[in-house]
Amino acid sequence: MKVIIEKDYERLSKVAANIVKDEIEKKPNLILGLATGSTPEGMYKELIRMHKEEGLDFSQVTTFNLDEYVGIDKDHPNSYHYFMKNIFFDHINIDPNNTFIPDGTAENPEEYCKEYDKLIEDKGGIDLQILGIGENGHIAFNEPDEYLNLNTSIVKLTESTIQANSRFFDSLDQVPKTAITMGIGSIMKAKKIILLANGKKKAKAIRELLKQDKLTTQLPASMLLLHPDVTVIIDEEAYEG
Ligand code: PGA
Repeated sequence: MKVIIEKDYERLSKVAANIVKDEIEKKPNLILGLATGSTPEGMYKELIRMHKEEGLDFSQVTTFNLDEYVGIDKDHPNSYHYFMKNIFFDHINIDPNNTFIPDGTAENPEEYCKEYDKLIEDKGGIDLQILGIGENGHIAFNEPDEYLNLNTSIVKLTESTIQANSRFFDSLDQVPKTAITMGIGSIMKAKKIILLANGKKKAKAIRELLKQDKLTTQLPASMLLLHPDVTVIIDEEAYEG
């Protein structure tokens, strides 16, 4: 696991965007795994700038998002579909037909989860996966538990995640309690992974991860220690706490 510590969020976002840019330049039809949340917003902003000012070309790129709430419509302002369109896709030259986000309203969720993993495989697998990390050490919506799902699954969100995500909703009880998420196995199949974390709130999870001494389902991000190509990019606050 390679660890890069940047002075602040702006630097972290630029370093992450540069890695994405390099990968797209090496392989214009990159299969890119994307994350939502506050963490990657700066990286998306920088990628939009690179597209507008430097001609970074997304026309052949395919994206797969990690997760989505269950029971929220695609056009709901708190859906991850809405977030991705609003924050990123609408500002670059990606073909909307090449952007995939789990459908939290699928009629047959179990079948749908299998199809999502199969679609990733059929497209050749994820080349580069972007991850954030939860305050509780989750990656995507793989929450600390006795076991972790290997494949894309429907999961219950923990109190800690519901609490953390309530900042985007009018009240705590409006936050969905279940989500659809790529599993740990789906994520680990990515050829290259970048995990981003900024701010004091992430320091505890990052401290545990950077000990690099044990795997535990109580810190889902620790599974990344088994992956051969992970870069953790953090700011000083997430490093020092
Ligand atoms: P955040 O969420 O980027 O909004 O902090 C990250 C996560 O929960 O994985």
